[in-house]
Amino acid sequence: MRVVTDPAELRQASPPPLVLVPTMGALHAGHLALVRRAREAAGPDGTVAVSIFVNPIQFDRAADLEAYPRPLEADLDRCREAGVDLVLAPQAGAMYPPDRSVTVLETSLSKTLCGATRPGHFDGVCTVVLKLFNLFRPAAAVFGEKDFQQLAIIRRMVRDLDVPVDIIPFPTVREADGLAMSSRNLRLSQEQRADAPRIHRSLRHAAGRPDREAMVAAAREGIESPLNRIDYLELVDAETLQPHPDPGRRALLAAAVFYGEVRLIDNQPVAPAAG
Ligand code: PAF
Repeated sequence: MRVVTDPAELRQASPPPLVLVPTMGALHAGHLALVRRAREAAGPDGTVAVSIFVNPIQFDRAADLEAYPRPLEADLDRCREAGVDLVLAPQAGAMYPPDRSVTVLETSLSKTLCGATRPGHFDGVCTVVLKLFNLFRPAAAVFGEKDFQQLAIIRRMVRDLDVPVDIIPFPTVREADGLAMSSRNLRLSQEQRADAPRIHRSLRHAAGRPDREAMVAAAREGIESPLNRIDYLELVDAETLQPHPDPGRRALLAAAVFYGEVRLIDNQPVAPAAG
């Protein structure tokens, strides 16, 4: 496995096709599932690449950026064991010149859900992902559906800016008790960790309710606990991510929930109403 810290070293060619898994590290079984999907897409002779970079410009809270776990040596071991060919693990200074002045802005899909409560977050995500696409020039990149809004926004960026990369979605990987895998789970106390599976459980049960009000009310009732605070809970159109979806279209019940300083997100698809 080749590990580079200087993005310029990526100019050295790797066997095509190259399939990228962009991450912020603290790799868990969910990331490793993305790596396996990348291998499937790259084939045995192609290149599976992983970026490990805690992107400072997508954090809206300094405390969250500071507390984000960075177990680089363990991450590299996991990548090696998973058969990754190439890892980029740069310092922030290597990615962003001090006088950087260009940012990628998405102006529609990023206005709801996480975008509404985390100002600038998706500008930072789009900017770093486009930079990673320019550095690696991947044929394809794999993104998890837990970050459904991120996936939709990256697809829109790729479409609108004609970025020549296939975006491969991957279903949310869950712990045995249903909690969506996330690097942030490591920061939960034992008590919070035991409480957090209520998010998925409640979204899943609520998605079977007949209308928007009933879904949101049932999900709220199930999620709320003395240990958490709901940041948002919404039913949105699965394509436009706008609230109040047409009952005939695919929708998504999505939530962000704080346990102390730790913010967890999850979502549940809602099938279109019959007829
Ligand atoms: O999903 C993530 O881990 C990050 O938002 C990403 C896509 C690696 C960009 O920093």
